Formats: sequence, structure tokens, C-alpha cells
Amino acid sequence: MTYKNEFQTSIEKPEIFWEQKAKDITWFTFPEKILSKNENGFYRWFEGGKLNTSYLCLDYHVENGRAEQIALIYDSPVTNTIQKFTYQELKNKVALFAGLLASKGVTKGDTVIIYMPMIPEAVIAMLACARLGAIHSVVFGGFAAHELAIRIDDAKPKLILSASCGIEFDRVIPYKPLIDAALMEAEFEPDFHIVLQRPMKLAELESEKEIDWNQALLSVEPHSYVPVDAHDPLYLLYTSGTTGKPKGIIRDNGGHAVAMKYSLTSVYDTHAGEVFWAASDIGWAVGHSYIVYAPLISGCTTILFEGKPIRTPDAGTFWRIIEQHRVKTFFTAPTAIRAIKKEDSEGKLFANYDLSSLKYLFLAGERCDPSTYEWVKDLLQVPVIDHWWQTESGSPMLANMAGLGLKTVKPGSSSTPVPGYDIQIMGEDGQILDTHQEGYVVIKLPLGPGCLPSLWKDDERFQKSYLSRFEGYYLTGDGGYKDEENYFYIMGRVDDVINVSGHRLSTGEMEEIVAADPAVAECAVVGIADKLRGQRPVALVVLKDGKDISQAEIEKQLIQSVRDKIGAVAYFKSAILVKRLPKTRSGKILRKIIRNIADGVHFEIPSTIDDPKILDEIREVLRENKIGSEFDDG
Ligand code: COA
Ligand code: AMP
Repeated sequence: MTYKNEFQTSIEKPEIFWEQKAKDITWFTFPEKILSKNENGFYRWFEGGKLNTSYLCLDYHVENGRAEQIALIYDSPVTNTIQKFTYQELKNKVALFAGLLASKGVTKGDTVIIYMPMIPEAVIAMLACARLGAIHSVVFGGFAAHELAIRIDDAKPKLILSASCGIEFDRVIPYKPLIDAALMEAEFEPDFHIVLQRPMKLAELESEKEIDWNQALLSVEPHSYVPVDAHDPLYLLYTSGTTGKPKGIIRDNGGHAVAMKYSLTSVYDTHAGEVFWAASDIGWAVGHSYIVYAPLISGCTTILFEGKPIRTPDAGTFWRIIEQHRVKTFFTAPTAIRAIKKEDSEGKLFANYDLSSLKYLFLAGERCDPSTYEWVKDLLQVPVIDHWWQTESGSPMLANMAGLGLKTVKPGSSSTPVPGYDIQIMGEDGQILDTHQEGYVVIKLPLGPGCLPSLWKDDERFQKSYLSRFEGYYLTGDGGYKDEENYFYIMGRVDDVINVSGHRLSTGEMEEIVAADPAVAECAVVGIADKLRGQRPVALVVLKDGKDISQAEIEKQLIQSVRDKIGAVAYFKSAILVKRLPKTRSGKILRKIIRNIADGVHFEIPSTIDDPKILDEIREVLRENKIGSEFDDG
């Protein structure tokens, strides 16, 4: 099949196309209907199908000749550990841990929160939930207690699974105090908290509800897989929206399994027995799809990396892993490449390694700037593929599809639509725009299988956030344009979401935290360009009348609040006092213009602006505080 044929069939005859792809995985009962709608009119894939995702990841391979193949390699430069698990070993561990979950009352449909660092037990926990038909919700370890509390109250988990600590470069981060604080803040109370003790920092277990992971495993029996419906949720993954309340993205079992299998072969050209490595974190969608589910469903070897692109121990660590584990397909974020480029711009460390196994580098999570693209392409001498997707989609929607024959690369573009995605650029008024015209990136419904069927217990927000703006289309939240050959150029978010080091964050949420400070009258938080991290947040703050507080004091206070509420990962380092904010005459803050001033981007002064003189004031204050592209030395 060529790309052209695949794409055309997927758009013209989606049911025939996806029925065929569904046959590539093993079902206990094959779906009765390929595409249908539920009572709310939302599309659903594979009604009537029965399967188990953990079975597909493990038992299926054990039964089909891969028992002794390595399924998972844990490579942790921060603990000096490399550990390998065959499919048989991983299956045994997952089945036993599923037995533990079941013994604590977890059954099909229950939710379980996993707040863990990048260790094998985190993957085991995810697959054990899937084995029971329980719904896991992994919370990124870099989030603060408050973020965890919000997710506990929304997901209402029966259990929390965690480890005693995480490791950031050489810093040990105890998790128990974070979880205790989250549980204090949350209204909902899980039944148990199971803690994996890591020797670098043990957690004190203080009540019968707090259970030692390894101790508890001594007295349980392995549990078999439980068949679930295609529509039953496999997991929930919270992602930043435009407010302080994150969105609980649901991933169902059936559509997800089919999308994972299809994408690994067609987008990533990776097949059973080959080594796939996504250097992400299991706390993000990339980690769910391409550290855990897609490589395992496909019978590959996957790598779980507990480290960073630099300083663990150096900027050659990625290349060391690719050589040592014979990685064929590598996936990371452009920010990681920029971090390496900064430390080893001439590729001296790179020269120490044999990367002959490597066939592709895939980049996603943020726009890949052409200079990063050129640098890494020249270094690696393999195809470098920028592809675009979101937590909501769970797999790529734009990609140069390596499995269907690579096309010309156009730097700055994430290439053409993946089969199943009818992507268009739309203007304010709902008209499809022509080539080279920038507008909203939208997708004609239905979305491909594996995309979110809805938000967790919030169909209304799903409808409002994604489906209401343009009838019959899904609103991605990104802006961009396309060219004559249907290559798309994603130019960034059109809402209050920013991407900092490939981490998706909400400036709206940061504004809520800043505005809650008793000294603050009003504020605007915008994401400005950052050479290393892609973007970083900056707050402009107006004090309440009569508040006598210095710039340094308020900045320190606000930095701490955002760190306490969201986490260090927000990389919130600047809060600047201004006398007033630029607004329209109707009072709307002109955030995009603040961003343009900081980024040194040309813009038209809107006719609706209240007082254009304020723009000079903002320009001046940003310059005084050394904020903006001219001061960004990467
Ligand atoms: N647990 C606890 N804290 C974490 C964390 C985690 N899992 N992840 C990040 N943080 C903390 C960092 O320690 C840092 O804290 P500090 O302000 O006290 O130093 C803060 O959050 C900001 O982290 P980050 O933006 O990652 O900066 P950094 O200087 O630590 O590292 C990079 C810079 C570029 C090396 C790093 O951002 C990186 O590896 N980026 C690639 C990320 C990626 O692959 N994303 C893809 C997601 S799909
Ligand atoms: P997340 O949900 O964390 O995966 O973030 C999704 C968002 O990241 C998208 O909506 C885009 O704004 C951005 N993004 C992801 N991949 C790319 C890419 N290849 N090019 C441009 N932006 C991207």
C-alpha cells in the first residue's frame, strides 16, 4: 500500500479501512460495528469488540514464540542500573502485581492513580491495571501535590501507587511527602497507598492503608487477564486545558490497541523483534503510547530511560543507549536535542559511539525549528522526522510515514496527514482556508480510533472544548497553514496552552495562581519564546492600590506559589510589575501582543486597543527586566 492509497481509503471508506487494521490485533470477540455513535452523538470505534490490552502486550507474545525475547530494558544512568525483562518475565511480574491489586479490591472499571518515576514497576503497574480492566491514571512525577490532589478528586482512585522517591539528575526527590500533602488537600480518599521502597530514600509507612509494594507481593497469587469491551477505558490522562482544571482525556481499549499497532508499523516503520526507544516520561501521552503500549503490542523491545539528555552523565548519553541496546527507532522532543547541541555542538561525544543500528529519529511535542533539524540531521545522517500529535489523539496525526515510504522532508513542516485524519485549516467564520493561509487547525469528524472518545465524566466540556466551535470538526487548539502538497505547518497554540521543554502547561492556570496572591490586582501570563525550552512563561503583574511590595519580593513570592501549586516543571521564573496591562476597549487583555513584543515579532496594533501608548510601556519594562528574544542566549 502506498501512502496515497492508504490515506484515500481511510477518508473515503473509514469503516473498511479500520476494519482491516483491526484484524491486525487479536480480539476475544471481533467488533460487530466498526464505527457508530453513542447516545450523545459522539463517534465510537469497534462496538461489540472484546479484548484485553495487557494480553496483547504480554500473553499474546509469550504464546506466540516471543517468551524469551527482551520486552523491556530499564536503563537508569542516575542509579547506574541496566535491567532487562523478557516477555515471559514481564508477564509474570504483571500478573503477580495484578493479583495484589485484586487483593486490595480493584476490579474492572475502578480507577488507580500511578505517581511514579521512570522505573519498571511503573510500567508493571500500568499493565497490571489493564490486565484487570481497571483504569490507570498516571500523574507526571514533576507535578506538585496540588496537581495530584486535583487529579485524585477528579479520578476518585481506589488506590494510589507510588515509589518512595524520584531522581532528578543527582537530586533525590521524596514522593511520600508530596502524596501526603495531596491526600490532605483532596476531598476524596483512596482505600490504599502502595509504595515501592527505593533504597536512596525510604518512605515511612504510617498506617495500615500504606502498604509496602514488595512485602505485599509475597502473599498474593498471579491474576489472569479480564476481557473488556472495546469502549471500556484503558486509561485517563490529565492534560492542561485553558483553566486550572486539567482535562481528563479518556483512552478506550479497542481503538487504542488498533491505533498503536497501526502507527508503529506505518508511521515508525518498526516491527516485532526490533528496538524502539521513546525518551519521554510515562507521565505524558508519548510515554503511554510509545514507551509502553505500541512497542509491546507490536512485540518490540522498548527502553525505559531514567535520566536526561545531558548531565546523566553527559550529552552523549542518548548515543550511548542507542549503541548499547541497538535502537532502530528513536523518538524524543526537539528541546532534548537543543540541550545536547548546546553542550556538544560539534558532536565530539557523539563521535565516540557506533550508531549503525539507528534508522530514524522522530521528533514531537513542540515545533521543531529548522536549525535544530539541520544540526541533528547532519549529525546522525538518518531521516529526522518531525511529526505532530496531542495527548488527545494518542498517536500522530501529521507525519512523514516511514512505513509507507518516506516523502521529501520540508523543514518546519510536520508533513502530511496520517491516514484517518482529514485535517483542514479553518478561518474565524468556519470557511476552509486555501493554501498558505493561516488559521485554526481542525479535523473533520470522525477522529481516528485511539483518539479521545470524551473527557472523564464530562461530556459537556468535551463538546464545548473541542466540538462546538466548528460544527462537524474537532478543534485541535493549534494554528497553522498548509501548502500545495498538503504539507502542514503547525505554528503554535491559539489558546492559553504553552509548551515548555515539551511539557504542556496552562498559562490560564498560572494566571489563576498569580491572581490569587493578595497583593495582585490583575495579571497576564504569556508563553514567550525560549531558545532551549521552546517557550517559557512570563507574568505581567499589576499590584493592588496601596500595596507596597518590591518587584523582587513579589516575584519571589509568585515563583514559589507556582512551584508549590504546579511544580518546578512549569519553569516559572519571571513576574514583572507593570502599571497596567494592554487591553481592548471592552477590557480583554491582549496577551498575544505582549508575547509578540517579547518575541520581537511584527504585529498590527488592533483598532480595538484601549490606549496604544501602553505598548511602549510594556516594551520598556520587558527590556529593563531583560526579558525577550534579544536577551535569550539559549
Ligand atoms: N520530577 C521532579 N521534578 C522534575 C521532573 C520530575 N519528573 N521533571 C522536571 N523536574 C524539575 C526539574 O528538576 C527542574 O527543577 P529546578 O527548577 O528545581 O531545577 C524543573 O522541573 C524544570 O525542569 P526542566 O524544564 O526539565 O529543566 P532542566 O534544566 O531540569 O532540564 C532539559 C532541561 C532540556 C534537559 C529537560 O527539560 C529535558 O530533558 N527535556 C526533554 C523533555 C522531553 O523529552 N519531553 C517530551 C515530553 S513528550
Ligand atoms: P501534548 O498534548 O502534551 O502532546 O501537546 C500537544 C501540543 O504540542 C500540540 O497541540 C502542539 O501545540 C504541540 N506539538 C506537538 N507536536 C508538535 C509538532 N511536531 N510541531 C508543532 N507543535 C507540536
